[in-house]
Amino acid sequence: MQIFIDSADVPLIAALAETGLIDGVTTNPSLIAKSGRPIFKTLEEICALVPGPVSAEAVATQSAGMLAEAERLLAIAPNIVIKLPLTQEGLKACRVLAARDVRVNVTLCFSAVQALLAAKAGASYISPFVGRLDDNGQDGMELIREIRTIYDNYGFDTEILAASVRHGGHVREAALAGADCVTIPPAVFTGLYQHVLTAQGLEAFLKDWAATGQSIV
Ligand code: E4P
Repeated sequence: MQIFIDSADVPLIAALAETGLIDGVTTNPSLIAKSGRPIFKTLEEICALVPGPVSAEAVATQSAGMLAEAERLLAIAPNIVIKLPLTQEGLKACRVLAARDVRVNVTLCFSAVQALLAAKAGASYISPFVGRLDDNGQDGMELIREIRTIYDNYGFDTEILAASVRHGGHVREAALAGADCVTIPPAVFTGLYQHVLTAQGLEAFLKDWAATGQSIV
């Protein structure tokens, strides 16, 4: 499973990239706004840190505007993926870009039939928002399972990118459900390493080792 970081915080992404476990980055207009920095500079820096796909979201609402924005965003770096909303206009623009072999991440997916349309429009990635569905009293992970079944039924190669992830349990369930990728906030990524028994076990090992008075190097 590919792990993407859902953030536009360049120093945090730089620190996480050092783990060698980060396959890509996703951004959105809210994350860019939260960074307080200019979009082009920020995306350029992120693309230099992570060789994998970096999703940059268009903000136009009509397909012509989305395509014009896509041109500007694609010029930033070769690893830019254009992120478009799951609307009729978004999928129109997706078809045009996909025909040119431009990778598109279709975002704001909340139903399996939306995901079916995105795949037919040639999306490289579909981003179902599991956390926002959970927040809305629905089962976000059930959507991942439904999309997996539909894509497998018809042989679509659109990758399922589990998004709006709130905790490590979502990562586990997305992996079990067969999501191709997951995009997670930096704090959730850091939390994936942690287990109380790991911390307790390490503390005990180090205490016992110190009592031996030995050294390995
Ligand atoms: C996906 O690409 C989005 O950027 C993101 O996962 C949205 O998550 P949120 O619901 O935490 O805003």
